[in-house]
Amino acid sequence: MSKATVFKDDSLLSPRYVPKTLPHREKQIKFMFNIFKKVIDDPTRAFLRPVQVVGGIGTGKTCSTIRFGEELQAKAKEKKINLKHVYANLKLQGSSGPVLYRYLLDNAAPEVRTGNLSADEMLYHLVKYLNAKNMYLIISLDEIEYFMKHTKEHIIYDLTRINELTPNSPCRILGLVVISRGTDYYSLLDKSELSTLGRSMVDFRPYTSEQIRDILSSRAQEAFKSDTVPDSVIEFIADVTAAPPVNGDVRYALDLLLFAGNLADNQGSDTVELDYVRRMHGEVYHQITSEDILDLPYNEKLVLLAVARTLRSKKSAYVSFKEINDQCELVSEELNVKLGDVDYAVQDLDDRGIIDIRSLVRIGISDIPTEELIKYLDNLVERVRSDLNEGKS
Ligand SMILES: Nc1ncnc2c1ncn2[C@@H]1O[C@H](COP(=O)(O)OP(=O)(O)OP(=O)(O)O)[C@@H](O)[C@H]1O
Ligand SMILES: [Mg+2]
Repeated sequence: MSKATVFKDDSLLSPRYVPKTLPHREKQIKFMFNIFKKVIDDPTRAFLRPVQVVGGIGTGKTCSTIRFGEELQAKAKEKKINLKHVYANLKLQGSSGPVLYRYLLDNAAPEVRTGNLSADEMLYHLVKYLNAKNMYLIISLDEIEYFMKHTKEHIIYDLTRINELTPNSPCRILGLVVISRGTDYYSLLDKSELSTLGRSMVDFRPYTSEQIRDILSSRAQEAFKSDTVPDSVIEFIADVTAAPPVNGDVRYALDLLLFAGNLADNQGSDTVELDYVRRMHGEVYHQITSEDILDLPYNEKLVLLAVARTLRSKKSAYVSFKEINDQCELVSEELNVKLGDVDYAVQDLDDRGIIDIRSLVRIGISDIPTEELIKYLDNLVERVRSDLNEGKS
């Protein structure tokens, strides 16, 4: 007999799922849609339109951009225009410019073999393909801050220049949507890139507690069986999510809802009790969400596991690089896996804002006091381990 559960479908709470409706983001999606609405009336006379999507962590930038792309593609199809939106998350597809270009080609021009093409050749083939197929593209680059910090390669320049490769044909790249949490990364762009970025900016303000309540209600309705999530649970999660230090990151709210639901199942309860949510709120560190872990390359996951374990066994806010290295050897033995470059992974975890390198002997997880951190470490170790296990199966 299968085990009783409060969930209808728990995968609908996973970070990769984009829900059908996005309450309180209708305005932003419409704004982006309107920028391109006219363009698809006559794309042959279009020029590249840059759009910047800017807003704090977990404010719905990614899911709204994906939804916008889908709506625009559908509209173009109605008008018999071959338009494709390619969304790239640079934390996943952007370890370098060529890796990104290969991803763009795989998605927009899958017939082109990218095997041993150089970056320039890949872009040239992309534009040739678009011309041959009479096709248009909108490219969204998510997590641009991470990319610029990590690689310092000028992809914005390269991508906006694509249209110049065939000066006598129409512009095939109609839009470049660049998603960021702020504008600090401007300092890593060169002047021409900055001016290309233009002034079209879509602002994603942090959600209020009431807005998060609406969002959670609609997400809970999709993922949970009816009458399993009381209003008090939604209200509690909305309140702690809207307040500091979480400051409106809906990803944390969804993690809490999922973990509390799992706890209800483990306890054999047919409702998600407020107590379960309170307990998870005390154990889950809000700055490292399930999505942060999911997005890590395999080697970074192993090294994060080593960092969390070292901090836990030392009961300290900081550990040294050497201690992490020693722990990595243990992790490698225990899981029977070979670790890649630990140096690189530690730096990458810092670039992603997951750990904080003060010096080679002071490496920690964010700024919270040691006693606070300790209570999150068991849960963090557990989450990274179970993610690693899932990756294996
Ligand atoms: N209005 C909404 N309705 C339903 N779900 C939402 C809404 N806004 C955000 N979410 C969900 O919250 C999570 C975080 O949203 P999203 O990934 O779009 O945030 P973000 O602004 O891109 O954050 P970050 O800067 O950290 O990348 C996602 O799982 C998303 O599905
Ligand atoms: Mg995002």
